[in-house]
Amino acid sequence: MKTANRLEGIGEYYFSKKLREIEDLNREGKNIISLGIGSPDQAPHPEVIQILNEESSKPNTHAYQSYKGSPVLRKAMASWYKEWYGVDLNPDQEILPLAGSKEGIMHICMTYVNPGDLVLIPNPGYPTYQSAAKLAGAKLVAYELKEENNWLPDFEELKQLVKTKQPGQESVLMFVNYPQMPTGQLPTKKLFEELVAFAKENQVLLVHDNPYSFILNDEPISILQAEGVSDHVIELNSLSKSHNMAGWRVGMMLAKSQHVENVLRFKSNMDSGMFLPVQLAAAKALSLPASWYEGVNKLYRNRKSAVEAMLEGLGCRFSKKQAGLFVWAKVPDSFADGYALSDLLLYKANVFITPGGIFGSAGNKYIRVSLCAPEEKILESFDRIKKAAFIKPKQHV
Ligand SMILES: Cc1ncc(COP(=O)(O)O)c(C=O)c1O
Repeated sequence: MKTANRLEGIGEYYFSKKLREIEDLNREGKNIISLGIGSPDQAPHPEVIQILNEESSKPNTHAYQSYKGSPVLRKAMASWYKEWYGVDLNPDQEILPLAGSKEGIMHICMTYVNPGDLVLIPNPGYPTYQSAAKLAGAKLVAYELKEENNWLPDFEELKQLVKTKQPGQESVLMFVNYPQMPTGQLPTKKLFEELVAFAKENQVLLVHDNPYSFILNDEPISILQAEGVSDHVIELNSLSKSHNMAGWRVGMMLAKSQHVENVLRFKSNMDSGMFLPVQLAAAKALSLPASWYEGVNKLYRNRKSAVEAMLEGLGCRFSKKQAGLFVWAKVPDSFADGYALSDLLLYKANVFITPGGIFGSAGNKYIRVSLCAPEEKILESFDRIKKAAFIKPKQHV
């Protein structure tokens, strides 16, 4: 049966397809090590799981929940923002719990984008910005992030792009994300201030997606800290990475009350609230002390050193200052692009690494290695690569 026009140009998510191929290879006995996806492999804090268990054993926690989330969770989110980012938010009006930041990206597009509206997305960037905006019927325009510009946006280019908005379009939706995925580039307060000022001056509704601020980053910051933040800015955040809760689907939208009300008009027609024990356990996760984040990061720091050694062996070039769950690296000139290196590693060394081109054309010459695999697996990947005779590391260095 023919699918609706809105699905035209929307393919199956890259990882969903690739994981099927990896399963097939494994069925053939290949035992692929995947350093692809950014899904934390560790468990949440034991007390978080304990609350989920206790609450789900109670008879009265199974009903539909409020569309706006439990007040306990909204208060915990407000306290988390106050404690870690120094941002004051009204838990009743300025916070909307979500089933992950990904849900927020889609809902914001459905709430604010009319068919034909210009939406600005980063290249390279998280592919969901593109697919969500496309599903809403947007005219997508990518703004390029370049290594020589430290993967930061070029505001002159952005000003020109905004002018191409659809006649009658009131404001232009723009997605931005720092610490940036896939490049690992950290934000600065100055960058956030420039973005906020740009949004205000150019009728842009800026959506800052902030799920990586606690990963390999000593100073988590929020765009809501920036001077002059107003109703031009929405932030998305998530417990997926910072609290090892990717499968739980807990995220949040932080914005002026009008945005929360508007997005809720759409969201309340899509779902009927989040399972209460999940919300109460998530509230616990948000109250964890600094030692939780230190533990999470200690593990990633060790893995990162192992990944860096492997990338050096491959002759890749990369910055050591990256934050987030990945290492982003430029492939040696001897490979046509990141796809070529990724395929070679998959088929000859049984190691899967993501080609940077799936995040946009500006990522073509890069690969992205995930830190969500045990250190032994990373070391074994490097061994397999060294054993596969096609790579002679020294020649690339
Ligand atoms: C930049 C970015 N935003 C959002 C998400 C999705 O996060 P969540 O699990 O909160 O939906 C990801 C996940 O990989 C991501 O890389």
